[in-house]
Amino acid sequence: MKHIVVAGTGYVGLVTGTCFANLGNKITCIDISEEKIAMLNRGEVPIYEPGLSELIQRNVQAGRLRFTTDYAEALADAEFVFICVGTPSGVDGEADLRYVRMAAETIAETMDHPLIIVNKSTVPVGTGDWVADIVTRKQPKPIDFAVVSCPEFLKEGSAITDFMNSDRVVLGSTNPDAAEKVAQLHLPLRAPIIVTDLRTAEMIKYASNAFLATRISFINEIATICEKLGADVREVAAGMGYDKRIGPHFLNAGLGYGGSCFPKDVKALEHMALVQGSHPSLLRAVMEINRDARRWAVITLRQLLGGSLDRKRIGLLGLAFKPNTDDLRESPAMEIGHLLRNEGAEVSGYDPVAMGGAARLHPDLRLVSNPYELAQNLDALLVCTEWDEFKHLDLARIKASMARPIVVDGRNIYDPQQMGRLGFIYRSVGRGQHNSPSESTLALPNDGKSTLLVEPNGRI
Ligand code: UDX
Repeated sequence: MKHIVVAGTGYVGLVTGTCFANLGNKITCIDISEEKIAMLNRGEVPIYEPGLSELIQRNVQAGRLRFTTDYAEALADAEFVFICVGTPSGVDGEADLRYVRMAAETIAETMDHPLIIVNKSTVPVGTGDWVADIVTRKQPKPIDFAVVSCPEFLKEGSAITDFMNSDRVVLGSTNPDAAEKVAQLHLPLRAPIIVTDLRTAEMIKYASNAFLATRISFINEIATICEKLGADVREVAAGMGYDKRIGPHFLNAGLGYGGSCFPKDVKALEHMALVQGSHPSLLRAVMEINRDARRWAVITLRQLLGGSLDRKRIGLLGLAFKPNTDDLRESPAMEIGHLLRNEGAEVSGYDPVAMGGAARLHPDLRLVSNPYELAQNLDALLVCTEWDEFKHLDLARIKASMARPIVVDGRNIYDPQQMGRLGFIYRSVGRGQHNSPSESTLALPNDGKSTLLVEPNGRI
């Protein structure tokens, strides 16, 4: 059993701390927010993540997990301290490192024995060296320490599974002994462990997120072309995904990526490149296509509603940036809602779990308590988040409540043919063959459905 301190009880910190506790370590989670720590000590979890609350409770009861605001007490007999604080976007896309600096300074001022400082926050390449400098400068007297970079690759909504079934663990350090000790902590995960230098580890994180964002923008660009040429992007993605060199993941066309990582990390990587005199034209295109994905929804709604959105009642089905989270950061729904309101639309919204945050952060958005109430008297419904519960709605009931039967499906969750049969005017992303002939530039030789004749397991 190792004693690990986790600084920052946001998403990454809570999941990392709780999962390490569950692996049998003694974990102290620390935060500068008295309010957050008080909540956690009352058994309340400040974020929505499936399974996290139960896992916290279990590990607190087992005496392996506790929460405090007191660094001195937390660090007393710790061997490792993980920095998991937020790194929001600064004004020009540069990552704002003030919380990392604060954590590093406090650790330096408080530590009274050697420590391994592990950085999990997503930080610009070179930050590990910067943290080491801060600690050296701020220590009242020199005490041994090492900095290890260990970027996180957790997806919101499946963070616990992602941690416990990591595809890989990346460790970067100039101190091989320290990297080896951090590697030991991860051995129970049975994941490949890549040990490299600090800067390379930091870059692996940015390159991974930028690559995934690029895949999403790539498929969104293909969707735009499919739309014009009468092909079905979902089947295009499926057909591509069987190629092992491509793989099936992160090829869902839609309203683009959001959340706390991709938008911020692509911007930060662009900024790092620019500062070094590079021309990150691919990253710029990725961001531009992502903005276009939001604009597509507004343009489509405007077209379907006769050229103006003024006083049109539009319902946003789903507000979170993706399903299984209550996170609204860089959420397409919120951005599109804002664009629609700018054109005079009356916008309402519903989400299974993000309503509290939406009410707090977007008081001008009218919120209703279920999808059927949302549909009442709408001129158009826009699907923004692909929650499972939206896939099985009583669509006939939805249609009966709407003033006009217009559905724009920004996540391709409905079957165009079924929507047509129900009498909806239905648009989805990159499935141009299902639009009315006047809007499709090519006539199709068949209904556009491809058929998979033989599954990989040989079944026909
Ligand atoms: C991401 C990374 O996946 C994770 O490794 C990193 O550590 C943090 O950032 P997260 O932000 O939780 O995780 O969400 P993710 O599931 O990756 O989705 C990001 C965004 O891309 C969402 O808005 C999602 O809707 C969108 N997306 C994802 C698509 O539009 N299409 C896809 O095919 C996949």
